[in-house]
Amino acid sequence: MKKFFLFSLIILVIACQGNPEKKPQMSEEKLYRPAFHFTPKKSWMNDPNGMFYYKGTYHLYFQYYPDDNVWGPMHWGHATSKDMVHWEEHPIALYPDEMGYIFSGSAVVDHKNTSGFGQDGKTPIVALFTHHNMEKEKAAQVDVETQSIAYSLDEGMTWIKYAGNPVIENPEIRDFRDPKVIWDDNSNQWIMALAAHDNVRFYASPNLKDWSYLSNFGFDKGHYGGVWECPDLFPLKVAGSDEIKWVLFVSINPGGPNGGSATQYFVGDFDGTNFVLDQDFAKDLENRNDFWVDFGRDNYAGVTWQNIQRDNGNRLFIGWMSNWDYAQEVPTHAWRSAMTIAREIGLIKTTQGYRLTNIPVEEAQQTLEPLTLDSKTLLGNMKLELAIDSMKKVGYVLSNDLGEKLEFGYDPAKQHFYIDRTKAGKNDFSEKFAPQHSYAPRFTEKKTIQGTMILDKTSIELFWDNGQTVMTEIFFPNAPFNQITKIE
Ligand code: FRU
Repeated sequence: MKKFFLFSLIILVIACQGNPEKKPQMSEEKLYRPAFHFTPKKSWMNDPNGMFYYKGTYHLYFQYYPDDNVWGPMHWGHATSKDMVHWEEHPIALYPDEMGYIFSGSAVVDHKNTSGFGQDGKTPIVALFTHHNMEKEKAAQVDVETQSIAYSLDEGMTWIKYAGNPVIENPEIRDFRDPKVIWDDNSNQWIMALAAHDNVRFYASPNLKDWSYLSNFGFDKGHYGGVWECPDLFPLKVAGSDEIKWVLFVSINPGGPNGGSATQYFVGDFDGTNFVLDQDFAKDLENRNDFWVDFGRDNYAGVTWQNIQRDNGNRLFIGWMSNWDYAQEVPTHAWRSAMTIAREIGLIKTTQGYRLTNIPVEEAQQTLEPLTLDSKTLLGNMKLELAIDSMKKVGYVLSNDLGEKLEFGYDPAKQHFYIDRTKAGKNDFSEKFAPQHSYAPRFTEKKTIQGTMILDKTSIELFWDNGQTVMTEIFFPNAPFNQITKIE
């Protein structure tokens, strides 16, 4: 008996010591649940959907599969916030039905009740989404995706699907999805941007129910190797002027600058029917086909809030902080994926042409604790302001007690920023996760590079040169990063 006890004890000791793999010491919840980025309490999430602002509340819906931590029958989950930093999750807003899964889309506040859905003076909120029919997909049919609508009379909490769905039938295009709608004051109608495989189609409607096809844009513009998804068309004021340009976001998967999925942008004009590239931008695009909202690997399918702008005309944006290359394998189990920090999208005109900028929203800048290079712990709500001499090679290293590290910085010889997460902890869950560094070009020649780093437990967001070059990446250390060092 004694012998047996000793034997089992030895086995137990061997079992505990024998595994050379570094095991996290903390619970998944403590180690990986972001401190201030939105994640669903449980299960799978992808794209942000239907963002609108109403009576002081920011609404965020999202592609959601409540029954597993991988992609599945899509619902719209729902969360709200007063400041785009603290989010409260609500019951599921839209469930799949006999017409299909509920894919990505947008929502508008129909103040004028153009839809006629309003009752008893209540303003209808109208959601526009893609119905994705799995039976048709399995039968290899082409007309898998159609566009449908639903409305809410209680400020976005519950929804009634329109009995006349779909509002746009499938015109024999297999990838035909992600309607993003805005009200266009100039042409006095609703305008929809819809992704159609390798181009964006534009539609117009007086009432959100009857849609007519206007025109399309794409085919051979920008990057078109992968499938075009989640477009967003909106006017934007050029900083410091009264000039208005129209910006078109197009997410593409695969084909991103550092692999997998990413979001590109185009600058042009929209006359109520056609989106035409600005002439200078078109030349720029030919010379340097490198116009990305974010060069990091983890910002996809992002779009802007429908009906709210900042005083300077800038728009508000949020993206899905993952990449289809490995999103379903990342080492969190209770939930999968987070959103980026909400951002303010602007447009500037430089000597080299138009450039999109994105910076964290002021609310985040104010809420997050400032970090210094000698901070004792990096856990919590963190942001760090950086200033780099553009002539010097500079790196910053986040590290932990296990010797895991993430490095980022700037290389003047190559005039690019980089992130290296190859040694930042767990990365063997997918060979596509960290095979190499990620790079992003610098667009200006200013002597000092100004940067803002937003750091959460599993993500870094770097905003260089006032948001002209942005990089967002996720990582999974086996212990919290608790040190940051500068290397020159
Ligand atoms: C983008 C996307 C959309 C689609 C949704 C499905 O990530 O593929 O095109 O509507 O995800 O969940």
